[in-house]
Amino acid sequence: MIRPMTEGDLNGVLAIERLSFSSPWTYDNFLYELRNNPFSSCFVYEEDGKVLGYAMMWTLFEDGDITNIAVHPEYRRKGIAQSLLDELFSKAKAAGLEYLHLEVRVSNEKALRLYEKNGFETLRIRKGYYSDTNEDAYEMWKAIGGDHDEDPGNRIEL
Ligand code: COA
Repeated sequence: MIRPMTEGDLNGVLAIERLSFSSPWTYDNFLYELRNNPFSSCFVYEEDGKVLGYAMMWTLFEDGDITNIAVHPEYRRKGIAQSLLDELFSKAKAAGLEYLHLEVRVSNEKALRLYEKNGFETLRIRKGYYSDTNEDAYEMWKAIGGDHDEDPGNRIEL
């Protein structure tokens, strides 16, 4: 089941975050998103009372930014990230958003395949975007509604 994230989920969320990222968000980072960031939408995928994954999005005017998505390593490749993305797409459409953006490490093949499968295209490379390793990011976007008269820019082929 996918439902909005609550503060009671944060221990489970943090465990997945630490298993998933070299520079994990902290408890306080998540708490800020839940308590203080009115632009943030946070969802968890829960099964039998256990958090198996989560996804987060910021909404600013007609744009959405996917800020975080991760699945517990023991439950990967079962379609959980896909379900979470579908939830974000549906919320984004319901909110009348035009575009979804995200950044992803250029070495993150699994995430790149996930986003490409879902119609995201690469807009540009952001040099040294990740300060922990100085790794570059692909900035990706996907049009999700409206007329899209304003193209956000030239795509690059991966
Ligand atoms: N190799 C290649 N493609 C993969 C993949 C892998 N190991 N894992 C997922 N994908 C792609 C595939 O296109 C897959 O579709 P398919 O199964 O029909 O081939 C699609 O993603 C959906 O897979 P799904 O099972 O929903 O993904 P998941 O639940 O395993 O979660 C991640 C995918 C990326 C969220 C997960 O690997 C993860 O948590 N990674 C660490 C955190 C992270 O990197 N987050 C992204 C930050 S930008």
